[in-house]
Amino acid sequence: MMNKGLIGAGLLIGALFAPLPASADGVQEGYLIYNDMCATCHGKDMMNPGLAFDLRKFPQDDKARFVTSVSKGKGTGMPPWEGKLSAEEIDLLWAYVKSGG
Ligand code: HEC
Repeated sequence: MMNKGLIGAGLLIGALFAPLPASADGVQEGYLIYNDMCATCHGKDMMNPGLAFDLRKFPQDDKARFVTSVSKGKGTGMPPWEGKLSAEEIDLLWAYVKSGG
């Protein structure tokens, strides 16, 4: 026996929570975005070949600086990601960077 009311409620809840990351801490999602958008300069798995800032050394208590640098860019080498990445995606990247890779 299928209960249509319950299924409806399930779909509604699924739709409400769909934008949330699949893993609780977002590290895995951040890793996927990182390898897509950031690894070319910052190195695969944050293993930096010395071309850009070594993200494993980024201060873990300074999320504000991370969000600003990623949104607005930094110096001549780091492009601004505002408009290309959502606030949620930047949050996921932060979770990954904070995890240390
Ligand atoms: C085209 C190469 C390039 C790409 C792609 C790139 N970066 Fe960077 N990034 C740099 C360079 C170069 C610096 C050093 C900038 C400086 O300090 O002058 C940097 C610096 C940073 C910093 C340190 C800024 C600070 O506060 O000192 C962070 C954080 C950062 N990048 C995050 C990211 C993230 C996250 C991505 C992917 C969304 C990304 N970068 C993609 C080149 C890049």
